[in-house]
Parts: sequence; C-alpha cells; structure tokens
Amino acid sequence: MSMNMPPQPELRVKQGAFRRLPDLLTERGCTHPVLVTGGNSVRRREDWRLVTSALQSEGVSYLDFRVSGEPSPELVNSVIAAISEQAPQSDVVVAVGGGSVLDAGKAIAAGVALMRTQPPAAAMASVAPGASRAPAAPSTPAFDITRYLEGVGDLTPDGTTLPVIAFPTTAGTGSEATMNAVLSRIGPDGFKNSLRHPGFVPRLAVLDPDLFSGCPANVTRASGLDAITQLLEAYTSTKTNPMVDTLAELGLTHAGRAFPRLLEGEDTPELRAEMALAAYLSGVCLAAAGLGVVHGFASPLGALRDIPHGAVCGMLLGPVMRATLRVQPVPRYDRAAQLLGVGDSAAAVVERVESWAQPVGRLGDYGFVREDLSTIVNGTSLKNHPVQLSDDSLTTILEEVL
Ligand SMILES: [Fe+2]
Repeated sequence: MSMNMPPQPELRVKQGAFRRLPDLLTERGCTHPVLVTGGNSVRRREDWRLVTSALQSEGVSYLDFRVSGEPSPELVNSVIAAISEQAPQSDVVVAVGGGSVLDAGKAIAAGVALMRTQPPAAAMASVAPGASRAPAAPSTPAFDITRYLEGVGDLTPDGTTLPVIAFPTTAGTGSEATMNAVLSRIGPDGFKNSLRHPGFVPRLAVLDPDLFSGCPANVTRASGLDAITQLLEAYTSTKTNPMVDTLAELGLTHAGRAFPRLLEGEDTPELRAEMALAAYLSGVCLAAAGLGVVHGFASPLGALRDIPHGAVCGMLLGPVMRATLRVQPVPRYDRAAQLLGVGDSAAAVVERVESWAQPVGRLGDYGFVREDLSTIVNGTSLKNHPVQLSDDSLTTILEEVL
C-alpha cells in the first residue's frame, strides 16, 4: 500500500484574506497578476472594488478576465493569446471563483508557460472530436491547449506553469487542492478531459469565508453534495490509504456539522470555513485515492448536456450507494453515517443524501432522455469503486433518476 500523498498547495484559512490580496502579492514578489473570475458575483462585492482600486493606486498593472460556465479549450486559448499579447511578463494567476473558474485559472497559467515551448502544430497526431483537422501553418503555430489534454492531445505537459493562487468561492470541487483542470466541450462530440500534472497544483489555496457568504442556496447545495460525494468516494476507493482515511473522516465530520445548517439558511463565517475545509479535504483525498462510479457517470453526463457537476453527484450518490450495497455490505458507509452525524447505518446515509439532493431534480429536468442512457453507460468508468457494477446495474441507476 502506498502512503504517498500527491503535492498539496500551501493552505491558508483566513477571514478577510481576499481583501488583502495586494499585500499577499507583494509578499510573494508578484508584480504582474492575471485575475480570473466567474460571472458577476465576485465583482459585485465590496472586496473586489477594494482589491482592484488598491492594485490601481499602487500602480500594479494587472489583467482581468471573466469566464462563465465550464471552461472550453477555445476560451482558454483566447485568454492565453490575450495575455501573451497584452502582458507577456505576467507572473501569477489569481483565480477567484467556483471549480470551473479555478480550473480555467490553472489551465490558463499552464498554457501561458507552455506556449513558450510548444512545438509547431503541424506535427499534431490527434485532434479533439469536432476540432478542425487542418493543421496551422508551421511558421505561425497557434497555441492550442487541446494538444495537452489527457486522452485528446498529442503532447504531455511537463508541469511548466505560472504559479496559481486559488480563492474558492464555493465549497465543492476542491479544485484548489488538485493537480488537474477539466476542460470541456458540450454536445454529441463533447468531451470533458483534464490537463493534468503534479506541477499544476495551485501554489497557494486561500479559504476566506467572506467569499462564500451569500452564496446562493442552490449553489451551496450542489457544491456541498459534490464535496460529500468526493469524500465518500475517496474513503471507499480501492486505492485509499490510512492518510486518506484520516483526512476523509475529518472532511466528513466537518461537512456533517456545517452542511445541514447551511442548507437551513444559517450563514456564518464559522460554518462557511468548516464547509470550505471539507471541500478542500475532498480535493486532497480524491487526488490521492481517486473516485468512484458517481464521478465515472459525471464525465459522459456532463459532456452530453449542460448539467451542473454538483447536481450530477447529488442525484446519483444515493442510487449508486444502494446498487453498491446490493452487491455487498460496505462497512465504511456505516462509519460515514456516524461521521456525518446522520445515524449508524449505510441506509441512514442513503436516506439523508437523497433528501439533501431532492431539490437538484432529475436527469430529465436537464434534457436527458431514455435514448441517451446507453451512450452514457458506454462512456462510464467504474474508476476506483469498491465493487463491480454491471452495465445493467448502471442502466438501472440512471433510470431511477431519469
Ligand atoms: Fe466532483
């Protein structure tokens, strides 16, 4: 059994840390930051105005990009091109947002550094489904991050990247703790693939409860269900180890204390910090031990239609646990009931997870139809799930939530 843990970011848990970003950059010797955020929510905050006006008054030249939705290779390429044109001296990427924003930030940081070393595109051996097959002229190779995507590209990243400072604003994916960035293209030829290297773990992850406060209830719910799924799947993974076990147990304990109260509308810095830590730990655990079949389903589902990742996890976790228990008992599900504070048995976890997930709806609410099921099952990996599940059993799980 390997006890090795993959690299982790330096972690800070501090209320008000985002507000002091200019000091943090100075402290770390960063002079040309690239800020990456999501839609509007962070920008509407007083904190954002304070940070950007402090940067301006200190004469720091920064670039500022907004990404909405899950990042596509095209979006990442366009931001990388803009950075190389407008601020080639950029020396850090500060990503402030949910998992998609953090993934975009990680991909942009890697891309800016990789662009300087990429060989001409004419040598491209494989291209993404649906991508243009016409090679770029060798004399003016356009940078394409797709070439470095796992399972899609022809090049392997070597870990070269600008440093990333990650400020999560949702307690969910744990992307601030992991070495990969998921890029996706949605549709019949869609994919969700990772840019992955231990070097892509953010340099610093900052959990600032102020950034989570006021998070909409549906986002808190879906994100939290993702974190809980990740903790449970790493905890029951065939690849878990005593270090992961300890961290997953700690994460489930924090989630069990904070999540139900956040769902009831309590919104204190203490609860937000506790749930943020649970999500961070879920990222550390999944990076070390992998995940199970709920996340195996998430890739083909997310590639086919636009459905929030947390919603996928929430609606499938209960049915997957029940299907798993039909194969054999899983003592760790019973233990998880105690850690989450919901009872003593696996059945209690299933019941509670299904009630937490009920408002996220069903696959049909996101446009899925019965004809999609075989495509999804064909694209589903069991990952490190503790038991084998047949294709029939996978289909039954999907039918339960269609
Ligand atoms: Fe996840």
